[in-house]
Amino acid sequence: MSKLVIEGLRPLCGEINVQGAKNSALPILAASVAARGESVIHNCPRLSDIDVTIKILRYLGCKVTREGNTVTVDSTDIIRDDIPLELMREMRSSIIFLGALISAAGHARVSFPGGCDLGPRPIDIHLKALRKMGITVNEHRGFIDCTINKNIKGCKLALEFPSVGATENIILTAVKAQGRTIITNAAAEPEIIDLCDFLNSCGAKITTGDSGTVIIDGVSTLNGCSHCIIPDRIAAATYMCAGAVCGGDIVLNGGIPSHLSAVIPVFEECGCIIMQEQSKLRVIAPDRLKAPKFIRTMPYPGFPTDAQPPVMALATQCDGTTVFVENIFESRYNHISELIRLGAKIKLEGRVAVVEGNTSLYGTNIHAFDLRGAAALVTAALCAEGKTVIYDTDYLERGYEDFDVVLNSLGASVKKI
Ligand code: UD1
Repeated sequence: MSKLVIEGLRPLCGEINVQGAKNSALPILAASVAARGESVIHNCPRLSDIDVTIKILRYLGCKVTREGNTVTVDSTDIIRDDIPLELMREMRSSIIFLGALISAAGHARVSFPGGCDLGPRPIDIHLKALRKMGITVNEHRGFIDCTINKNIKGCKLALEFPSVGATENIILTAVKAQGRTIITNAAAEPEIIDLCDFLNSCGAKITTGDSGTVIIDGVSTLNGCSHCIIPDRIAAATYMCAGAVCGGDIVLNGGIPSHLSAVIPVFEECGCIIMQEQSKLRVIAPDRLKAPKFIRTMPYPGFPTDAQPPVMALATQCDGTTVFVENIFESRYNHISELIRLGAKIKLEGRVAVVEGNTSLYGTNIHAFDLRGAAALVTAALCAEGKTVIYDTDYLERGYEDFDVVLNSLGASVKKI
């Protein structure tokens, strides 16, 4: 496990490029299994979760090459339709291979996925939808075995919650169904749209509506294509937090402001000046930050749960009190105990956290417990007096490309050991 040593209280200034979106790249790489031939994926971030995805693709028989941020997947010679437990356990999004394999091979055998510990993360919505599409789903001793009976049946699916993963698995299954599938209350995250754009370039027929409706007309074959991954809105939000807590002035190249429509107003409430261009975002921090009153995490286009931890670190530096309500994950507050060790004043009651702002943080030794929680700890350490050592920072490599290098390029002092 790596650790980061951070010397705080340095102003951050400068320009950075926003990496490709992890949550787009992972399902799109999985989807390449269902598209026969070669898919060339550009702007693919260099992350440990991408490495695991490539391992899975190679296990299945795909030929995968990687040059910089371009990953090429040739799925012509797939030889397997199962994924071993040790690969499934390495990340949550391994579950997206379920839909991709059903479409590619008519059968899939996977175990329950792993991933960051954010409380229980069931997959009942995924499996219920697959059953409704005529797929036999057997769950036995931690494994899930899915088989197409005669064919995949297009149907109407009203999701009880707009789950990102379930929406992706349904889309991946429905692209090869007979007839039309209509998903209502589907997730509408930009990463879902990116997956649909990739699949449409492969020959799928998917339309997405504004109100969480996705319509998929099944096709018989998909062929590989070339696709560029969208910028990572969560990485962008994290760097915005880092800039704001350090009284900085930073420019994010490649950030798409419309993908941050629930995040930008929070920074404006804090008193930051936000200058937006089509794919550029400048964040200028005020002399004194003001506390945003309420942060409620919601499915897109609401405030993203993945940005809650770093924004909580930001709230510790604002004049006033901020109330956080975490509506997506039951226990996504692992970072609070460590923020308190740095001097933050936070009260937690169930899904509600109350952050008293304007606290002086001081460096000490702390531990990361999950990816976005680790980003919150780094954000807090950047504005803490003295030296902070954050242990177990391998989590960051799941979601941030060269986090230390990017922060240092803005003027931070972050040493990876
Ligand atoms: C994806 C993102 C993750 C983000 C999350 C919510 C990827 C790789 N990961 O995760 O970064 O935090 O969306 O925006 O894209 N649920 C059920 N039953 C199900 C499925 C989900 O109860 O069958 C619940 C989950 O327990 C959770 C909520 O729905 O409480 C949201 O989960 P979901 O949208 O599925 O998130 P993921 O796809 O796992």
